[in-house]
Amino acid sequence: MTIASACGKIILLGEHAVVYGRPALAAPLPDLRATAAASDLAEGEPGSVCIEAPDIELAAWLHELSPDQPLAVIVRLTRQALAIEKHPPLALRVQSSIPVASGLGSGTAVSVAVLRALSAHWGHPLAPERQSALAFEVEKLHHGTPSGIDNTVVAYEQPVYFVRGDATQPFPIGAPFTLVLGDTGLRSNTSMAVGMVLQAWQAEKERFEALFDRVAGTVALGRKAIEQGDWATLGEAMDKNQQLLQEIGVSSDELETLIETAKQAGALGAKLSGAGMGGNMIALAETGMEPILPGYTHLQQAQPVRAAHWVLSHFWPLHRDLVRLGRAASSAGSLPLGSGALAGCPFPVDRQWLMEALGFSQVSENSLDAVADRDWAVEMAFSGALLGVHLSRLGEDLVKCLAL
Ligand code: MEV
Repeated sequence: MTIASACGKIILLGEHAVVYGRPALAAPLPDLRATAAASDLAEGEPGSVCIEAPDIELAAWLHELSPDQPLAVIVRLTRQALAIEKHPPLALRVQSSIPVASGLGSGTAVSVAVLRALSAHWGHPLAPERQSALAFEVEKLHHGTPSGIDNTVVAYEQPVYFVRGDATQPFPIGAPFTLVLGDTGLRSNTSMAVGMVLQAWQAEKERFEALFDRVAGTVALGRKAIEQGDWATLGEAMDKNQQLLQEIGVSSDELETLIETAKQAGALGAKLSGAGMGGNMIALAETGMEPILPGYTHLQQAQPVRAAHWVLSHFWPLHRDLVRLGRAASSAGSLPLGSGALAGCPFPVDRQWLMEALGFSQVSENSLDAVADRDWAVEMAFSGALLGVHLSRLGEDLVKCLAL
């Protein structure tokens, strides 16, 4: 089995204007990753690929997928790039910890992880430049007129200063700085946002060109600030960029609320990141403000830890709880009505209508399974119990803090 992964990304400054030839700065998110695992199958037609992507509930053979399905496209493009036609039947499993459609490059990371896994599995790993070019082909199919910044930062996995059509330029970072990511929870559709800006630009070219020039000014300011480690100026550049993104029309009430909250909490600057209209915002935290706490083990002080480290130790289990509860809700959303005692009702039942009227999300597939199935109850009970354990752990830490 060959496993490969690729990172998510944030746009620090310059989104949207970058599509119109202005510069932008982007950075990788190395801890948020998409992973692809390729392994040969003992049985199957030569050249066949069985694709599993549980995050999007996909399990299908390549030939069953629509030709423009992003996973199908990247598998075919990789085969073409490597001039591989007939290969042993293959299983490809794709998973991602990057929230989808939230401006963090999840689609691009999946493309790059898949092409990395396939090219390494077939013995011809591709250089970042070719990885970026192949992932760009998928972006073009799905985002209309992408600038190419997303595939560049993900394939090179380095901070980049990007100008459409120019050679990729990594840029030096003067000193570490801390960004906080805030998710609106609203999905953001890049092609829709990019398309909307295109329409607005077509209607008012002069105004939008002037806005894009001013965005370019914030990128220049931010780049210099990063090189010099001048975080106050970087915050200023982010704020100015956000005002311009508002004028361009890609912010949203939810983003503005998060940005305002971050600023009230002391952020040096904050802005949306990516296509906007939902998705994520980034806020620049003041440096040197991270409190250090004593870490405890067996009720004894052990290593010192950053407060953020502790906060995130509770964030991650709760995040897993949210995902688990979502899955349990989806299991419980399968309508069994119409299955009768075991083999259906003796009178006609419009199950689709019932499903919609009662707020279920799907109709059960098999009546014998539907009447016997208790998976949803077990999943709900387990998800609830584990949430309780995690909340109790948080409660115990807080009580301990108060006692200290
Ligand atoms: C998306 O991450 C960044 C946009 O500028 C689109 C692009 O550059 O392709 C909104």
